[in-house]
Order: sequence, then C-alpha cells, then structure tokens
Amino acid sequence: MKEEWLKKGFVDEPVDKALDLKAEIDRLRKEKNAVILGHFYQSDEIQEIADFIGDSLALAQWAAKTDADIIVMCGVHFMGETAKILCPDKKVLIPDLNAGCSLADSCPADKFAEFVKAHPDHTVISYVNTSAAVKAVTDVVVTSTNAKQIVESFPEDEKIIFGPDKNLGNYINSITGRNMLLWDGACHVHEKFSVEKIIELKKQYPDAAVLVHPECKGAVAKLADKVASTAGLLKYAMASDKKDFIVATESGILYEMRKKCPEKNFIPAPPEDSTCACNECNFMRLNTLEKLYNTLKYEWPEVNVDPEVAEKAIRPIQKMLDISAKLNL
Ligand code: 13P
Ligand code: SF4
Repeated sequence: MKEEWLKKGFVDEPVDKALDLKAEIDRLRKEKNAVILGHFYQSDEIQEIADFIGDSLALAQWAAKTDADIIVMCGVHFMGETAKILCPDKKVLIPDLNAGCSLADSCPADKFAEFVKAHPDHTVISYVNTSAAVKAVTDVVVTSTNAKQIVESFPEDEKIIFGPDKNLGNYINSITGRNMLLWDGACHVHEKFSVEKIIELKKQYPDAAVLVHPECKGAVAKLADKVASTAGLLKYAMASDKKDFIVATESGILYEMRKKCPEKNFIPAPPEDSTCACNECNFMRLNTLEKLYNTLKYEWPEVNVDPEVAEKAIRPIQKMLDISAKLNL
C-alpha cells in the first residue's frame, strides 16, 4: 500500500476513463467472491450496483449471514466496523476511510465510558451510529428500526442510559413514556432540517405526507405523519394512498422511494440556511463508483477492529440481532 493512499484514506489511483466501471466492478466482485452492501444514503449509481441496499439494521443482518469472502461496505465507518465485528474472518473494505459519522463522533469512547461508570445501576443502550469502543461498554445496540421495541423489552422501571443521539432518545422517551438518561449527541445532517422550511413546502403540497427520520429535532418530528428509519419511511410511502411526500432525511433515500413508487412524488425537505434543495451527508457521499472499483481491485482500505474491543462489542450487537429476529424485524 502506498504512503499516499494511507495519507488520503483511499486508493488514489487514476481510473481509466475508457473502462466500463460497472462491468469491471461486477467482474471483480465475482472473481473475488465479494458482496457489495450499500446504505440508502449512497449515490444513485452505488445503490444501483450494490448487491443489497438497506438501512443500518438490514446491513448488519446481511453482513452476519453472507458467505462472501469480502464485504465492501458502501456506507460509513461504523457500518464497516459492525460488519467486521460480526465477521472477524472476512475482509471488510470501505471505499473511503474518511467516511465517518458526526453522530458517532459526538460520543468519544473515553467520555462515554466515564458517563456509564458514573451510573452503575443503569442499562446501557447505544444507537448503532457509534464506534466499536462505545459498543464495547454497551448492553444492547439499537437502530432506528428497532429502538422502540428494544427499549420496551426492558421493564418499565429499568434505569437506562441511551446514547448518543439525543433526538432519537427524546423521541423514544416520548413514545414509550420512559425517562432514559440521554447522551448529548446529534447528527449534523438531520439537525439541519427546519420547521419553517417544511411548513413552506406544506403550503405548496397541502396533501403531502411528511416523512421524518427520528434523528431530526423534536419540533420537526412533531410535523410528521410518520417518524421512522430509512427502511420504515420507505415502507410507509409504499403502503400509503398519498401522492406527495415531503422527506426529511438524507436525500439518498429518494432514489429507492422513486424506484419503488414511480407514480408518487417525493420532495426532499431542504436544510435550513441553505439554497440547496436537498440535504446530503458529506460522509456518505465520499464513496464514489471510482473508489468502489479501486477498493475492490486493490482490496484496500480495510476496516479493522481491535480484537479485544471486538470481543466486547459483539455481545450488544448480537443481542440486537437476536431480539430483532424474534420480533421479525
Ligand atoms: P437508518 O438506520 O435509518 O438507515 O439510519 C442510518 C443513519 O445513519 C441515519 O442518519
Ligand atoms: Fe452519521 Fe448523520 Fe451521516 Fe447518518 S446522516 S451517517 S447519522 S452524519
């Protein structure tokens, strides 16, 4: 591996413009028995070529059951870590190592461990958007698809720490009547949605259903017809009789929504203080078709997790998968 790649965090090799990239990616994945997993926030072309696209829970479930030798995680770093923890003997690749997550970064492992230590009588529930080291001091991991059910699987008087997303935590408290102790973290993309801009859009599309990811602020969630994970919002849109949908989550999900419901109209909610029509996660969008091709070709960058940390982090992840399987999620 070149010094330059290490510095940049991705394979910085020029890709021949004459190459049929999609065909080459397809050839490499077959040759190497690799599976390409993509999150709904990836670019359209990556979603198109991925073997499987889904939300965070589905990506973890898929990683846990694949028999591929190589998993290419087209998503962000914590998704790659989760796959590596579940499949320590497989090679897990990510097209760009810089694909982090502001929400995971809002929860440094040492500070979170101190917080946990200060509340020894609390059960620790962590959102999957966390580093492996945070998962290592967690009792059970959740995603936005299963957070409500997993919180409710504990007795009503269970003392719970929930981290790191305060918006998701507040939302789960509000729908379950729990009083979980919340870590003060947030996602910089979802915090940007504003009540004002959604109300403006509602004036243009009065019959539209408002779809909101629970990482958005509480005031935005209050405007929602449906609050759910990316997969949950997609499912809702597919089943709904409505024609128009205002979507307050990263705009990558609109690709699959439009594909599944070509007759419906999906309007991305814009971020506040911006002239852009939609809200993209700069980390998710670091993955490109060229980087995906190079990562498969050179089998780099790899996502690795310290085996001692992984040994602790697998328990809360496995617990989440077990509960989700029982609940058919
Ligand atoms: P989902 O699990 O709903 O796909 O969310 C992942 C994420 O990163 C949201 O910002
Ligand atoms: Fe993290 Fe937010 Fe990007 Fe999701 S949208 S990966 S929570 S920074």
